[in-house]
Amino acid sequence: MRIGIYGAGQMGAAHVRHFAAVPDTTVVAVADADERRAKAAAAPIGATPCPDLNALLTMHPDAVVIVVPNVHHAQAAVTALERGVHVFCEKPMATTVGDARRVLQTVERTGRMYQMGFNRRFAPVYTGVRELLAGGARVFSGTMKMNDGDMRTPAWFSDPKISGGFMYDTGIHLLDLVPWLLGPIQEVRCLTRSSCYPDQDDAVMLLRFKSGALVAFSTCGHATWTGPLERIEFYGDHTAIVTDGFERLTHTPGRDQPAVTRDFSAIPVPDRLGYAPEVHAFLQGITDGRPGGPTAEDAFRAVECVDACYRSAAAEGAPVRLA
Ligand SMILES: NC(=O)c1ccc[n+]([C@@H]2O[C@H](COP(=O)([O-])OP(=O)(O)OC[C@H]3O[C@@H](n4cnc5c(N)ncnc54)[C@H](O)[C@@H]3O)[C@@H](O)[C@H]2O)c1
Repeated sequence: MRIGIYGAGQMGAAHVRHFAAVPDTTVVAVADADERRAKAAAAPIGATPCPDLNALLTMHPDAVVIVVPNVHHAQAAVTALERGVHVFCEKPMATTVGDARRVLQTVERTGRMYQMGFNRRFAPVYTGVRELLAGGARVFSGTMKMNDGDMRTPAWFSDPKISGGFMYDTGIHLLDLVPWLLGPIQEVRCLTRSSCYPDQDDAVMLLRFKSGALVAFSTCGHATWTGPLERIEFYGDHTAIVTDGFERLTHTPGRDQPAVTRDFSAIPVPDRLGYAPEVHAFLQGITDGRPGGPTAEDAFRAVECVDACYRSAAAEGAPVRLA
């Protein structure tokens, strides 16, 4: 399989390594507006550096990996799909619901594979939670958080015109993950504030699921880099499922029953964070002709959910229905 990587920043360089490590897969080209970055990422694997997406597409990749800043994702995906190229896109699918719908419709029309970079669905800590739920663990309520230590790296991260807004970049991961675990979100309420950056860098949400479960979610971009940066606590009938970053999962199966902790900290980062398996799932999906990971519909629903949170925040926390 011939792969083109569009964006050679922090995450793009990582995806060059993830894709280049897969047998029978060749990263043929790496594109970045910054020529130095494109060359630095392309050189170690003998790929061709390119200045932009059009130049990348002239290298006839089977699939393009979109890893440029968020505001460019939708147009890049549409351009690649229209040229018959499969797309793996970093989150978010788009920074508006309208653009996300345009990508979804293009995926449906072209029949190309589209996978969203919701890597948490492949991380052992979260597949472990899903296994517990599939095994019968019930969840009535919960609380979760997802923080960043700062919003300075990369610099565009704190500019909502490029990121779409803090929740389009960070919170969207858990707003995809939790419906994957607990089923559809029915209604959101959200309050935000700008605390340390010009963007709304603090958000506190209440999520009501179709199942009736209630989850409180807080996320901020001005915490510290001291972990855990993310954490989920789900509660059932005197039971608990608690995650600690990507490192630990603790399950207490019932009243007076001992907690069982699984520790994933020895797993290498690309597997522990789900990057290596999400890449395998994407490539396998192309081979099999059916999605192996989060689809365009999943990506669209996550954008809809973030948009609903911002609409609620604009209305001082008024409930916004989703499903
Ligand atoms: N899934 C994850 O865990 C994860 C982690 C980090 C970043 N990301 C996502 O990856 C994407 C990239 O983030 P990053 O941290 O690598 O950012 P970055 O700023 O480090 O890299 C972005 C690169 O895109 C290039 N670029 C910008 N505009 C361009 C354009 N119009 N054409 C070509 N190149 C352009 C820049 O020169 C830069 O090298 C973002 O969408 C982000 O949300 C995902």
